[in-house]
Amino acid sequence: MLEAGRGPIRGSLRLPGDKSISHRAFLLNALGRGRGRVVGSNDGRDLQSTRQVLEGLGVVIRREGDAWLVHGRAGRLRPATDLLDCGNSGTTLRLAAGLAAAQPFTSTFTGDESLQRRPMERITAPLRRMGAQVDGPDGGRTAPLMITGGQLESRRFELEVASAQVKSGLLLAAAAAGVSVEIVEPHPSRDHTERMLQAMGAAIEFGAGWVRLERGGELSCVDVEVPGDPSAGALLAALVCAVPTSRLELREMSLNPGRTVFLDVLQRMGAKVERGNRRTSAGEERGDVMIVAPDALEPFTVEAAEVPSLIDEIPALATVAALARGTSRLHEVGELRFKESDRLEGIVHLLDEFGVQANVHGNDLVVEGRGGELRVPRRLRPPTDHRMVMAAAVLGTAALRRGGGASLVLESAGEAAVSFPAFFESLEMVSGGQ
Ligand code: S3P
Repeated sequence: MLEAGRGPIRGSLRLPGDKSISHRAFLLNALGRGRGRVVGSNDGRDLQSTRQVLEGLGVVIRREGDAWLVHGRAGRLRPATDLLDCGNSGTTLRLAAGLAAAQPFTSTFTGDESLQRRPMERITAPLRRMGAQVDGPDGGRTAPLMITGGQLESRRFELEVASAQVKSGLLLAAAAAGVSVEIVEPHPSRDHTERMLQAMGAAIEFGAGWVRLERGGELSCVDVEVPGDPSAGALLAALVCAVPTSRLELREMSLNPGRTVFLDVLQRMGAKVERGNRRTSAGEERGDVMIVAPDALEPFTVEAAEVPSLIDEIPALATVAALARGTSRLHEVGELRFKESDRLEGIVHLLDEFGVQANVHGNDLVVEGRGGELRVPRRLRPPTDHRMVMAAAVLGTAALRRGGGASLVLESAGEAAVSFPAFFESLEMVSGGQ
């Protein structure tokens, strides 16, 4: 149940650990020599999936106080005795598929209903080209996937779709097999794998939209202090912008430029954003971010080249677009169809519940923001998709604050635990108005 509450959004918050960096801290350390200590990992269900899959492949992972210790296996995993269940997590499946492609045995990956619907050919086709064998009931197009690795060969790939998951799966395959790989993407995607491989001693070069990993270069495990997750921060930042005179500090958030483009969009909408207290650890920058709501929310445009750098933040941005006065346009966001749910359809439906029109033209999303008060439904049934559930909670809270009703019931609230288990506590804390 979401309640109206009063006053602006206020507070200072430490976000959950960044989900993308957390996955990589476990998966990449499993490849290294020695032992890596992971502090501040994301504690959502997706990370449980990654740890279980790695343990199934013989990686020893232990809890020590507030840290996780990952014992590296120097690239050589152990055959699993069971199915490797990736749950809801596409990152787990696509990255672990790369690891498995370099092992001289068969690993069988599966996942929940949502993951079994998601496209896997984008990773299985290039892994086959490197020399891995991929089988499955759907011929490797969707999970379950049976991956039999072996001696892979060096390759160069030009990806049709920018995808950090695919790029990372291929980098992991090459690193584990000791071959080289070069990958070019149509637009830059997040580069956490590249930065972590570099910190581990890999012979790697990368820039916006390209990466080259050379063979050799022994990988040593690294200690990773995981910064706060910008994708979690975007939900609360959206709420700040949606409730006049609000301000919120997000402490120790990742400032990786491939993850903070949503802050630029909020600035385009008129919000004030200040970054301070910056520091870098294991190649990743973090800092405290202050977000101050604009007096009036301006509509915005997102260009195709920006999309991979804010793909997970689009449900949050769409909620603020609904409250802006005028038309916002997000170009080339068709990849949203292939996330944990069809988020393009989900956004259109969510906004419609509040009386806001959003249309899809080809791969573009156009939101006709209404400003002012929104109609508040009594009950929301978002798809069982963590980001859609949290975006629904943000829009519901904002609409209630703007005077559209006293409360509303949100179904599937438990889905937030996939990436942000403390989401509703955080929402309540910042909504307290103190
Ligand atoms: C992720 C990459 C993105 C993103 C996902 C996490 C990652 O997916 O949507 O939530 O950690 O690499 P794609 O790279 O497939 O677009």
